[in-house]
Amino acid sequence: MKKVLVTRKLLRSCEDKASKLFNSHFNSNDELYSQKKLIELSKGYDGILSSLTDKIDKNTIEKLPETIKIISNFAVGFGNIDIEAAKKRGIAVTNTPDVLTDATAEIAILLILGACRRANEGINWVKKENWKWSSDFLIGKQLTGSRLGILGMGRIGRAVAKIAKSFGMEIHYRNRSRLSPEIENGAKYHESIKSLFSVSDVLSICCPATKETKDIINKETLEYFPTGAIITNVARGDMIDDDAMVQALINRKIYAIGLDVYKGEPKINPEYLKQPTAFILPHLGSATKKTRTAMADLAIDNIDEFFRSGTCKNKVN
Ligand code: DGY
Repeated sequence: MKKVLVTRKLLRSCEDKASKLFNSHFNSNDELYSQKKLIELSKGYDGILSSLTDKIDKNTIEKLPETIKIISNFAVGFGNIDIEAAKKRGIAVTNTPDVLTDATAEIAILLILGACRRANEGINWVKKENWKWSSDFLIGKQLTGSRLGILGMGRIGRAVAKIAKSFGMEIHYRNRSRLSPEIENGAKYHESIKSLFSVSDVLSICCPATKETKDIINKETLEYFPTGAIITNVARGDMIDDDAMVQALINRKIYAIGLDVYKGEPKINPEYLKQPTAFILPHLGSATKKTRTAMADLAIDNIDEFFRSGTCKNKVN
């Protein structure tokens, strides 16, 4: 039986599945392993089932034992792993696409609604117990007829577009390549982010974190947006220059934000917490039982497939 190090606690049924297939080491206290500890624990193992909280950089990969042949990441994103360094060492890296599309799109829509309809301020008023209804109390922005810009029209972006269309939003997008008319389904493609941002009453960031998308929302690009735009992010925190974003909220260039992901999370830039118009969640994108089960099962299947056939359809390097 192959030996697999599972870095974070999984749902019980998924750990049971992993136990049947591999000689698995689980992390019952769900402790966050340091890079040093991860390297030490990997000794004698054939594979690692990692999560997005494990920073498996070049230095870590270079020190992993020779026996490690696969890192199966329990996430669709794999920005936490240096996939080139892994490739050089002959270590396959896999992810869990598809299965979290709908759950993440739901959170993207929650962020859009929460930011547009001032949910954070509403919750704060309810907690103070002294709110009263009036015709101009917490007036927000309605989605009907407004323009939604989607940055990254992959599976999640397209699922967001589908739901947003049913709210009567007009869909615009920017993607590495233009989609076929059939998949576009009426969404308008933009050749540049400047063009996309300038028509985005609301923006939903759904693209992968890469060198090109790092800090794509910054002091300069925030100026492209219509005044009073709303920006939401369900992808990765690296895409936003937080200082510039906070400043744009303070000077009302940006009306509100909805965030589920943060640069350096679980730390959050403390300035966000002071902004009443920031509707913020603790990385809940895929957090449903159905989806987390499907993700872990797929991460396990990826390892199984890899050891049976020498490769895996969800290999990303
Ligand atoms: C992913 O899989 O990349 C998600 O962000 C996890 O919630």
